[in-house]
Amino acid sequence: MSGLTLDKVTKSFGGAQVIHGADLAIQPGEFVVFVGPSGCGKSTLLRMIAGLEQISSGTLTIGGKVMNDVNPAERGVGMVFQSYALYPHLTVAENMGFSLRVAGRPLAERMARVRDVAETLQLGALLDRRPAQLSGGQRQRVAIGRVLVRQPGVFLFDEPLSNLDAELRVSMRIEIARLHRQLGATIVYVTHDQTEAMTLADRIVVLRAGRIEQVGAPLELYRNPANTFVAGFIGSPKMNLIPAEVVGSAAGRSLLALPSLGGAQVELPQPAPEGAKVTLGIRPEHFSATGTAGFTLNIDVIEHLGAESFAYGSRSDGGTVILAAKGRDDLIPGQPAETRFDPAQALLFAEDGRRLVV
Ligand SMILES: Nc1ncnc2c1ncn2[C@@H]1O[C@H](COP(=O)(O)OP(=O)(O)O)[C@@H](O)[C@H]1O
Ligand SMILES: [Mg+2]
Repeated sequence: MSGLTLDKVTKSFGGAQVIHGADLAIQPGEFVVFVGPSGCGKSTLLRMIAGLEQISSGTLTIGGKVMNDVNPAERGVGMVFQSYALYPHLTVAENMGFSLRVAGRPLAERMARVRDVAETLQLGALLDRRPAQLSGGQRQRVAIGRVLVRQPGVFLFDEPLSNLDAELRVSMRIEIARLHRQLGATIVYVTHDQTEAMTLADRIVVLRAGRIEQVGAPLELYRNPANTFVAGFIGSPKMNLIPAEVVGSAAGRSLLALPSLGGAQVELPQPAPEGAKVTLGIRPEHFSATGTAGFTLNIDVIEHLGAESFAYGSRSDGGTVILAAKGRDDLIPGQPAETRFDPAQALLFAEDGRRLVV
């Protein structure tokens, strides 16, 4: 089990810089998830750790040693890809033991380790099958097993569940969480799916356009996003980000006008620069009948999900407001409704997107 560090790591492909100075320290045994929209540089960062891409500048250490120019095979990392790339003509056992065979390990040791890992992954009964005789989830487990037998100090996963259907994704997610607990391994895991990040990570690294926007525990990012990007990316449904103008500020309180919601005014228990254009952030779950601030909203659609319901309303600037609607029969599609939220839980962001923190 190793920790790793990135120090001002950059990556350019030709003239195009895609990673802009990434700084990060991952502790031994930590489960860290890189999350961000497609193309933000998650795979590139992971591939630089694995040694599959050259680092343009900056320093990578694994287990305290500088790894920039070390062979991928000698970094003590094991990578699980989105495509399993199993050898179709080899059995599960042979696929899993392949790297040990290449490394010249004796047969008895190979078999013992494969059996051990198969036990962990519940693949014991499938060792003699070939990949074509396995389900998608079983193949993904073999791909993980193939890396486990090598006992790497750091596990790297690049969107390992993206090829699975929704139900299987959920059960594999739980298996991976269980595996992490069981092995105590250091894991760096890439996904574009914020739910996957929230459920698996000790810490989440949010990336946007090659830059680390924020690093923190899942609930830390949920409660204290540093900017509108993280606020909108973490949490489902998304946080409402409503354009507002500060029309008054005194004694640690501010009064905001919401032009896209009929000019409604709401008071927040935090100061803000008077006259400033800001963004008001309200999570759908922070709307409730007991809220002390509010506005009138034209309700378009109610979505009943079973345990939860959400109402979707429209702003005059074309934006949407989403609010928790469980148990509210006053919300009727096609009609205006009084919506209330808890102003103490609302967040304020400056015009450049950065959080206004008091
Ligand atoms: N081999 C490459 N050559 C040129 N550009 C690349 C290469 N690999 C990735 N990129 C670019 O780097 C950026 C980040 O890509 P990637 O790390 O794959 O994003 P993600 O995994 O977050 O979807 C993208 O703009 C992508 O087009
Ligand atoms: Mg990728």
